[in-house]
Amino acid sequence: MKDNGSILLVGNSLESMKLLTEILSAEGFAARPAENGEIALASAAAHPPDLILLEIRMPRMEGFEVLRRLKAGDATRDIPVVILSAITEAAERVEGLKLGAVDIVSKPFQAEELLSRIRTHLELSRSRRRLREQADELARGNEQLMSNIAKLERSEKTLKENESFILSVMDHFPIGVAVNSIDPSVDFSYMNDNFPKFYRTTRAALADHGSFWDAVYEDPETREKIKKRVLDDCARGDPARMRWTEVPITRKGEETTYISAMNMPIPGKKLMVSTVWDVTDHKRAEEAQRSLERQVQQAQKLESLGVLAGGIAHDFNNILMAVLGHAELALDEISPMSPARRSLTEITTAARRAADLCRQMLAYAGKASFALERVGLRDLVEEMAHLLKTAISKKAILNLNLERGLPPIEGDPSQIRQIVMNLLINASEAIGDRSGVITVSVGATRCDEEYLRKTELHDGLSPGLYVHLEVTDTGGGMDAETRSRIFEPFFSTKFAGRGLGLAAVLGIVRAHKGALKVYSEPGKGTTFKMLFPALTETEDVPRSPESPLPAGWQGKGTILLVDDEESLVALGARMLEHLGFTVLTAADGLQAVDLYRERGKEIDLVLMDLTMPHMDGAKAFGELRRLNPDVRVVLASGYSQEDVSARFAGKNLSGVLQKPYTLFKLRESLAGLFPGAES
Ligand SMILES: Nc1ncnc2c1ncn2[C@@H]1O[C@H](COP(=O)(O)OP(=O)(O)OP(=O)(O)O)[C@@H](O)[C@H]1O
Ligand SMILES: [Mg+2]
Repeated sequence: MKDNGSILLVGNSLESMKLLTEILSAEGFAARPAENGEIALASAAAHPPDLILLEIRMPRMEGFEVLRRLKAGDATRDIPVVILSAITEAAERVEGLKLGAVDIVSKPFQAEELLSRIRTHLELSRSRRRLREQADELARGNEQLMSNIAKLERSEKTLKENESFILSVMDHFPIGVAVNSIDPSVDFSYMNDNFPKFYRTTRAALADHGSFWDAVYEDPETREKIKKRVLDDCARGDPARMRWTEVPITRKGEETTYISAMNMPIPGKKLMVSTVWDVTDHKRAEEAQRSLERQVQQAQKLESLGVLAGGIAHDFNNILMAVLGHAELALDEISPMSPARRSLTEITTAARRAADLCRQMLAYAGKASFALERVGLRDLVEEMAHLLKTAISKKAILNLNLERGLPPIEGDPSQIRQIVMNLLINASEAIGDRSGVITVSVGATRCDEEYLRKTELHDGLSPGLYVHLEVTDTGGGMDAETRSRIFEPFFSTKFAGRGLGLAAVLGIVRAHKGALKVYSEPGKGTTFKMLFPALTETEDVPRSPESPLPAGWQGKGTILLVDDEESLVALGARMLEHLGFTVLTAADGLQAVDLYRERGKEIDLVLMDLTMPHMDGAKAFGELRRLNPDVRVVLASGYSQEDVSARFAGKNLSGVLQKPYTLFKLRESLAGLFPGAES
C-alpha cells in the first residue's frame, strides 16, 4: 500500500474512528487513532504525523485545548490540524481557525470531501514545508554569501594595502622603473616617481599614446638618433643590447644631465620593464678626475720644458756673455772712426736680441734675475707709453686706462716691463693689418677666494686687494684649443713665433706670486689680466732712485777671476783689465783655493762662477772663508740674483753678479766694492 502520509486521528467515538481509519487507509494514508487529547498530544510529539484530524467534542480535554497545546509545542506547531465537528456556530468555527486549525469539516461529512480536503492540506503542508526548507536553505546560502562577501572585502582591503605599500616602495626606489609596450609608441602601464623624474619630464607628459620620445628628447635630431638606436636594439630582443649608458638629457637653458637605462622584455607578453637611473654626478666626477689628470700631465710637461728651457738658456747665457762682452770691449777700445764700429754695433744688437730670448726662457723657468722693490704699476706703464706706441702696428690705437691712487706692489720693474711688452706685441700681432684698439689698464680689484680660484696660478693666494694689469685687444681672438696651450713654451701659431712670450709672462707672474686670467673668443678679441698682491691698501710708492752711471770709473787692485768657461775667463780678464785691475785666473774652485792659499795677500777680491766642475762656487767660497774669514767674494751666476742671495744669506758674500754681465754692469758692481778708486 502506498504511503500518502500519516494522519493522527483524535476522537472519542470508537466507531467514528474506525470508520475514518478505514476511509483513510483505503486511500493509502497511515491512520493512527488516539482516543483522547492527552494520548494525541503525546503521540504527536513522539512521532509527528503529517496531519491531525481532530474531533472537537471529547471527554477529559476539550478539542480546542488540544489544538492550543499542539500549536504551543515546538514539535507539533507546524502539523496541519483539520477540525472535525458537528458545531455549526460561526463563532466556534472562527475560534478554531484562530487557534491555528487549517480547516473545519462539518459532521456528518462526505468521505470524498474529507479526503479531498485532507489531500489539499497535506499538499499545502508539504508545500509549506518545502518552502520553509527552501527559505532555510536560502537563508543559509545568504549567510554564506554574506560571510564570503565579508571575506572578500577583507582580502580586497589587504590587497589594496599591499598594493599601496608596494607602490610606495617602488616610488622610493633609487632608480626609475616602468612597464611599457614593446613598440615604438612606448605606452606605459606603470611607472614609479623616479621614472619621469630621471627623464626630466612628468607622468602626465608620458601618459599619452606615443608621447615618450617628444617628452624626453627635446632636440629633434638627437631624438631621432636615440629613438632609432633604442628601437633597433629593442627589436633584436637581445637583453644584452638593451642597455644604454650616459645618454644626455638636455633642456634649453639648463645644464645637461645624463641617464643610463636598461630594459627587460617580460616573457610571453608584449611588454617590457624599463629602468633608468641618473649618472650625472658619476659622469661629472669622472670628468673632473680626467681633467685633473690632464692638468697634472700638463703641469709635468710644462715643468720639464721649464727645466729644459732654463738649462739651455743658462748655458747660452755664458756664450752670449762672451760675444757681447768682447763686442763691447772692442767698441770701447777702437777709434770712433773705425769702419769696424758698425759691425761691432750690429754684433752687440744681435747678441742683445739673443740675450733677450734667453731672458724670456729664464723668466719662464723662474730663473730670471730678480730685484724686488716697491713698484707703482701706474707710473711704470706711463713711463713705457712712448715705447709701447712705437712697438705696435701703425693701424692699432693704444689706449691707456690707468687708475690713480693705487697701492704699490712688490716686483721687479724690468720683469714687469717685459710682461707688458710681450702682451702688447701679441695684441698688436693679433690685430695684424686690420685696425683695432689695444687697451692697457691698471687698477685695483678686491678678490675673494671664489674669484681667485678661477684664475691660473692661484695656488696659495689669499683673498684681498690686488693691483691688476690688463691688456685687451680687438684682434682675432683664440679658440679653446689654442687658449689651452698658449702658456706652453715654444707653442706658437705664428710663422716666425718662438712661443716664448706668454711662457715668460707666466713665469714672471708666478715669481711675483700673482694670478693670471685670460678671456678670449674667436673674432672677439683677447684680454690678459694679471693680478699682483697689493703691498698696502693705499698709494705709497716711493720712486726708486736711478743709480748714477759709473761711466768711466777705474778701479785698482788684484782680482782672482774663476770660471770654467775658457772664453768667459778670457773675456772677464779683459774687462777687468780694462777697468784697471790686475787679474789672476783659475778654471775651477780647486784651482782657485790653491791659488788663494799661495797668493791670498795680493788678492783684493774673488769673482767666481757659481756652477763649475770639481769644486763649485759655493764650496770654494766656504774654503776661501776658511783661509781668510774676511775674503771678498762676488759670485757670478746665470740664475736669479735673488736665489743666489737667499742661498748665501748671512755668509758675508760681497755681491752677486747676474750673468751675462756687461762691462757696464761689472763696472757698476765693482764700483760699489772699491769705493776708494776714482774715475
Ligand atoms: N692677444 C692675442 N690674441 C690672439 N692670440 C694670441 C694672443 N696672445 C697670444 N696668442 C696666441 O698664443 C700663442 C703664444 O703666444 P706667445 O707670445 O707665447 O708666442 P708667440 O707670440 O707666438 O711667439 P713669441 O715668442 O715671439 O712671443 C700665439 O702664437 C697666439 O696663437
Ligand atoms: Mg708673443
